[in-house]
Amino acid sequence: MVNLKWNGKLKKEEICEKRHNIAPFHVLDLYPTNSSDLKITEGWQNLLIWGENRAIMNSLLKKYKNKISLIYIDPPFRTGGDFNLKIQIGEDGKFVDEIAYEDKWDKGVDSYLSFIQERLILMREFLSNTGSIYVHLDWHTSHYVKLIMDEIFGIDNFRNEIVWAYPAASAKTRKFFIRAYDTILFYTKTDDYIFNDDPNIYMEYSDRVKNALKRDEHGVFYYRGGSHDGKKLSRKVYVEQEGTFPRDVWNDIPYIRANANEYQGFSTQKPERLLKRIILASTNKKDLIADFFCGSGTTLSVAEKLGRRWIGCDTNYTAIHISKKRILSISNSNDIMKWKLKYDKNPNSFKIYGLNKQENLNLKSSNLDLDIQQDHNIVSIKLTNFSYSKDKDLPAKIKKKIKVFSDFIDYWAIDYDYKDDTFNNMWISFRTPKKRKLKLKSDPFLYEKSGEYNLSVKIIDIFGTELIYSFRIRI
Ligand SMILES: C[S@@+](CC[C@H](N)C(=O)[O-])C[C@H]1O[C@@H](n2cnc3c(N)ncnc32)[C@H](O)[C@@H]1O
Repeated sequence: MVNLKWNGKLKKEEICEKRHNIAPFHVLDLYPTNSSDLKITEGWQNLLIWGENRAIMNSLLKKYKNKISLIYIDPPFRTGGDFNLKIQIGEDGKFVDEIAYEDKWDKGVDSYLSFIQERLILMREFLSNTGSIYVHLDWHTSHYVKLIMDEIFGIDNFRNEIVWAYPAASAKTRKFFIRAYDTILFYTKTDDYIFNDDPNIYMEYSDRVKNALKRDEHGVFYYRGGSHDGKKLSRKVYVEQEGTFPRDVWNDIPYIRANANEYQGFSTQKPERLLKRIILASTNKKDLIADFFCGSGTTLSVAEKLGRRWIGCDTNYTAIHISKKRILSISNSNDIMKWKLKYDKNPNSFKIYGLNKQENLNLKSSNLDLDIQQDHNIVSIKLTNFSYSKDKDLPAKIKKKIKVFSDFIDYWAIDYDYKDDTFNNMWISFRTPKKRKLKLKSDPFLYEKSGEYNLSVKIIDIFGTELIYSFRIRI
């Protein structure tokens, strides 16, 4: 068997030996939502985890070994660049660029390969015996990673090298051909794996076929195919499905544009329709799906809409914040099966975990002023001011856009009875890329029992900094 060698490559056994740094998780946020679809997840809450995925996987392994049906990852590609995240300010919603994460590997491709190998070895352990993994890459590293996957998953468990081609790709180069596809490596854990021949994953007929379609005397579509009799194609080929079973070249899914409803302002965001095909093909309802590089939460959103359970994680707090808002506002997103309609359902409840303890920032730098309006046991909160601590260091392009104090605020939530580290998001208002209005006054809340409570307000500013302000309140 061919093996790839690189500097610093460890053997599988050495990697497994290093696995003692099991990091404790802290529940940071709870989102109990009142979904009508909770049946699928009774006793289960979806998980969004903020932290480095190797540490997270080590911690999750005991509980989820052999339990995950599908892993999709879209890791950094070693592009050597910074990825921009666009932040939006206030109601105007124009995007301003910010750096989301660096995709630079100081020690070159060797360190990238060690990074990915170690994580792929861990991922294999999570997969159930009928499970699948899809690794989304491009020309930078897909050729190396394929060899590594052959080693880890076995060459016999290779299923496809999917080419996701985006015809609209453009570039200034006139020195080589424009690069216009990504590669998705699809492997399974064994040769007894889930793969659904579901018409919802089919590709549309090509224009050539569509133009050639005719109707017979019963109104059923057919095209001329089969063998040539010298003059014309002789056989009528009837069309039963609305498309064809997919080939490994996917050219029917466009890249996301900024005006798309699903756009989250995340530069490496992948289209929901790509994940739809993967998830429908490789899982069944209620199955567990994981994305350990979840970014803006595309996999999680599609898994949620297709009635699958999900686990997502990312090191970048802003990615977690975007994913969370995306799930919370999922009812406004496109229905994945009937794209022109809205999904129109609340998400199942989920928890946010973190490897780091959340700081209760009472000695915080940014100041929040609010009115607690209390009428006996009914309380509502009105935000009256927020002064951003690093105001004077702000770049001019951002400063110029700030007109009112609330322009600094992207999200706020109230826990009327905050205990320990877990923030129970009992009332929330937040902005999304398309919905920019923020409520500054909460709905009234009724305390059922008298007593003293720790009322807490969480603010997440436009830079993704999270602050919690706590107040004692007597009912
Ligand atoms: C290419 S993006 C994923 C985009 C995602 N598929 C989407 O549709 O939005 C890669 C993500 O991996 C995250 N990431 C990079 N290294 C990581 C690590 N070691 N642990 C967890 N997340 C990581 C980055 O913060 C980034 O959000």
